[in-house]
Amino acid sequence: MYDLISGKESVDRMLGLRNLLGGYDLSCKILDAGCGTGNYTQFLNDLGFDCLGLDLSDKLLDVAKNKFPEILFKHGNLLDLNFVEDFDIVLCRGVLNDVDYLDFILILKNFYRALKQNGVLLLDVREWNNSLVKYTQTPVFSKEFIYQHSACKFTSLTTVNNLDNSLDIKEEHLIAGKSTKYNFKMYPKCLDDLKISVGKIGFSVENILSAYDYQTQFTNQDKMLLVLKKH
Ligand SMILES: C[S@@+](CC[C@H](N)C(=O)[O-])C[C@H]1O[C@@H](n2cnc3c(N)ncnc32)[C@H](O)[C@@H]1O
Repeated sequence: MYDLISGKESVDRMLGLRNLLGGYDLSCKILDAGCGTGNYTQFLNDLGFDCLGLDLSDKLLDVAKNKFPEILFKHGNLLDLNFVEDFDIVLCRGVLNDVDYLDFILILKNFYRALKQNGVLLLDVREWNNSLVKYTQTPVFSKEFIYQHSACKFTSLTTVNNLDNSLDIKEEHLIAGKSTKYNFKMYPKCLDDLKISVGKIGFSVENILSAYDYQTQFTNQDKMLLVLKKH
């Protein structure tokens, strides 16, 4: 279901990733941190990189392993990551919006340790100030699509919570008349705080993009991709 909802955006991101990583040697080892159903791991693996997909969810990892049996997927929690200088690149896409700031910093430190010297972290997270504007103005999103021959509708309602800088999200999937509802929180990160925190850990900010290509520098979008380098 996640694959269907994120469809077109995922294709754009993958094509962008191919460009972003165009100058890297194919011998690079990549950690897809929070790989979910493994689509990005597979894409990077197909480009020729040496990839490991890691995720906390056994259910999503089973989907990934079934779809891409030739790729290495491992169960693991980013909060307990114990790799030491094993990877040239860490991709963390759409994962750390779910964790609060303390866990976020702990995970960034784990990525720092997992990277080799001059290694690169591609960190895809939402920005707080722009999320605040976007979801105050447009709290509802919906999308219709076909799933297993049935008409489906995905709807989300996002409420801004200023008390802890979070978004309270209510989602509904309506599939062949049957409704499934989920409630969860997201913690977008304030870019100014984030810059200070990553600098303290030892990363330099190489680039801040609003999409997966060097032409779209970050301005006032709610989504951002930081290119961070370990020193
Ligand atoms: C929105 S999905 C993104 C999946 C994938 N990166 C993608 O872009 O398609 C978020 C993923 O992060 C995983 N995740 C969340 N917290 C995690 C943690 N602490 N350690 C490992 N994986 C985690 C979830 O299980 C889920 O698969």
